[in-house]
Amino acid sequence: MAYDVNLAGMTLKNAIVTAAGPWAGSAEGIQRCIDAGAAAVITETICLEERQRISPRLFMKGQQLFNTMLYSNLHLEDWERVLDQIDRKDAKIICSIWGTSASEMAYLGKKLENMGADALEISLSAPIGSRNKLISYHSPDTEEFIRALVDTVDIPVIAKLSYESASSPDFLKELENAGVTAFSAIDALKGLLGVDLENKRVLMPTYGGYTGPNIRPVSLAMTAMLRQYSQLPVISSGGVHHFEHVLEFLMLGATAVQLASAIQLNGYNIISSIINDVESWMVSRDYDCIDDIRGVALASLRPFEDIVPSSLTAKIIDPCRKLDCALCQQSCLKGAIARNDEGTIIVDASRCDGCGLCVERCPDKIIKLCWR
Ligand SMILES: Cc1cc2nc3c(=O)[nH]c(=O)nc-3n(C[C@H](O)[C@H](O)[C@H](O)COP(=O)(O)O)c2cc1C
Repeated sequence: MAYDVNLAGMTLKNAIVTAAGPWAGSAEGIQRCIDAGAAAVITETICLEERQRISPRLFMKGQQLFNTMLYSNLHLEDWERVLDQIDRKDAKIICSIWGTSASEMAYLGKKLENMGADALEISLSAPIGSRNKLISYHSPDTEEFIRALVDTVDIPVIAKLSYESASSPDFLKELENAGVTAFSAIDALKGLLGVDLENKRVLMPTYGGYTGPNIRPVSLAMTAMLRQYSQLPVISSGGVHHFEHVLEFLMLGATAVQLASAIQLNGYNIISSIINDVESWMVSRDYDCIDDIRGVALASLRPFEDIVPSSLTAKIIDPCRKLDCALCQQSCLKGAIARNDEGTIIVDASRCDGCGLCVERCPDKIIKLCWR
């Protein structure tokens, strides 16, 4: 059984990478990611100057995590000490970087390569702060900006994409032309926690990075789209909190999958749990290697225009025992679902147009879509 994957010429011992963030912002944090079994650790984003932390900077509502953290609070020279201290074992170190000019990016990249980085990830479009949008999205300068880095270093350069930049085939082409060898996608979305209605104030002081399980559907779509738009490998990021999420991304063509808020919220042990659970699942299904599952779900993803309209209607396949449940009725705006005098749920097929929402919402799964 082989779990290793090839990422832009690097061999990773498994498909789990820890994403850029404060869990990998110090020697201790990086070491804990490595010790937990991560195949690669992406550092918190390193700039020429260290950044002060604001407080508070992490906000939550339910499972939704928002952060207002931009870049590492360590100076470039401190990073030399950090990278020296860690015992890398068989993990790769990918340094996340950001610079404000082509020459700064090249300088930073070369320095980190000399400090032992195995690869670089450019944090192209962090959702926090006022980033140079010309570089983050579309610009004639993008190619020059990235190329300055690519031409200066001899290690792979990965572009970390926002949702917006991952959705733009033209921008992806520019990045490819400039020489990036893989994409990380997606970065956090830009989000606001909410508004305190009584005090008429926002619940966080500035726009933040919105992360966690709720962004996974967006990230899954971006992984699939990147596979369709580009030949470059994708390291998926966004809402991965469980081993099944990792498998979903792999089946949509990801080369490797990143853990971020899962570590922030559950601690470093989640890394080894997810790695073990992915491996157990592979064994239980008799898969020999990650390549056996990579991209296998993509063939079932079709363009909307190719889907032939079909004539389905909801049917009750088992008696409903939840007499106080009205989810199916509430969500049927056509009024096709009702309870008769005996309390039995019935579907009026002449009103039902097969949208499928009652099937999705039924807690006992007693409704099915069938041919008329
Ligand atoms: C607290 C926090 C800090 C982060 N810092 C960085 C960073 O320094 N650089 C970066 O590229 N992404 C950063 N991210 C984004 C993550 O790497 C990841 O792309 C994002 O959280 C989406 O994944 P998730 O939904 O699994 O958390 C940060 C995310 C969080 C939650």
